Amino acid sequence: MFEASTLDKIINETIAHIGKSQEQIYDFAETARVEYRHVKNELQEVQKQVSRLIERVDNLAAREKKARYHLMEVSRNFNRYTEEDIKRAYEQAQKLQLELNTLRGQEELLRYKRDNLERNLRRIQNMLEKAESMMSHLGVVLNYLSKHMENISTKIEEIHQIHQLGISIIKAQEEERKRVAREIHDGPAQLLANIVMRAEYILKLMEVEPHSVKKELVGLQELVRQSLQDVRKIIFDLRPMVLDDLGLVPALNRYVEDYRKQYQINAEFVFFGTQKRLPPATEVALFRVIQEALNNVRRHARAKQVLVKMEQLHNKINVLIKDDGKGFDPKTIEENKDRECYGLINMRERIQILRGELKINSAPGKGTVISFTVPV
Ligand SMILES: Nc1ncnc2c1ncn2[C@@H]1O[C@H](COP(=O)(O)OP(=O)(O)OP(=O)(O)O)[C@@H](O)[C@H]1O
Ligand SMILES: [Mg+2]
Repeated sequence: MFEASTLDKIINETIAHIGKSQEQIYDFAETARVEYRHVKNELQEVQKQVSRLIERVDNLAAREKKARYHLMEVSRNFNRYTEEDIKRAYEQAQKLQLELNTLRGQEELLRYKRDNLERNLRRIQNMLEKAESMMSHLGVVLNYLSKHMENISTKIEEIHQIHQLGISIIKAQEEERKRVAREIHDGPAQLLANIVMRAEYILKLMEVEPHSVKKELVGLQELVRQSLQDVRKIIFDLRPMVLDDLGLVPALNRYVEDYRKQYQINAEFVFFGTQKRLPPATEVALFRVIQEALNNVRRHARAKQVLVKMEQLHNKINVLIKDDGKGFDPKTIEENKDRECYGLINMRERIQILRGELKINSAPGKGTVISFTVPV
């Protein structure tokens, strides 16, 4: 299966890669900046050279023009000039023309160089802008990844846990309904069926043996009383009304007292601190956890004594349920993922929902202590 921690790894690696890319782009931009300065200096130099050269070309062109003019002058009036004069004028014009051509060639070359440098400069500028925008984009991504994706596996894990919690709450409710149905079926329903039969029997008895009816009626009354008690117990288990009317401490007082009488276990409830009503959901949850712990003591511990100690402080409640029974190994039980019993799981989950913490301290032969703290 895809592990949430793998996602963390991927994100961390991505962050590292982006960080590295950012560094590379930064290096690249640095190099480009140096190059830009180089090219710009060179361009300025070339621009100066070009303007100097243009000046020289202009100068030379004027001189050349003059020489040409002079040569024309000399050639046209050759009878007024010596051979030597004509030759010198010709050579001078030719020399200047040659110089001018060379200089023009140089100018063309320099202009070409300058245009190239200008193009280069624009290209580097472009690259620099792109690198900068890439850096800022990567910065945004990096920021997003490190701020919002941090510990994503923990978040996914939390969502998963909440989902699981929802499922087990539904399961627990279904289990509870099954239990209530079974209790009604085995208890009051059976007794009522019995009562109907007994009543029919008494009706017949009235005709044949009226004097024994009274005894039978007493028996019937006992059956009805027992049914009533059963029904009351089921109602109490479903939702102790004292809990709503008087609060947690009186409800626990009564529950532990009934428990002691009913199961011959020396159960004791002690309370410290100040009694203050809590939100109904908290009261019910705390009651249920203690109830389940006491049920376990009754069903599994074979204990002689059990103590329920509750301490209510201004910001939290501490509870401890301690029995001197046979104890068990909580690790083996809790690590068994396929177990079909929900008592301990429900206790843990109810406390978790209240943002509290539950500890099970037990070992075979050492009795059991269940303790929890819930902030209020
Ligand atoms: N106080 C205790 N003393 C001895 N053993 C206990 C005690 N509490 C729990 N156990 C052991 O832990 C097991 C798990 O308890 P848990 O309440 O989760 O399930 P259960 O009581 O067997 O079934 P369920 O509560 O779902 O009806 C029990 O079967 C029992 O072996
Ligand atoms: Mg149980």
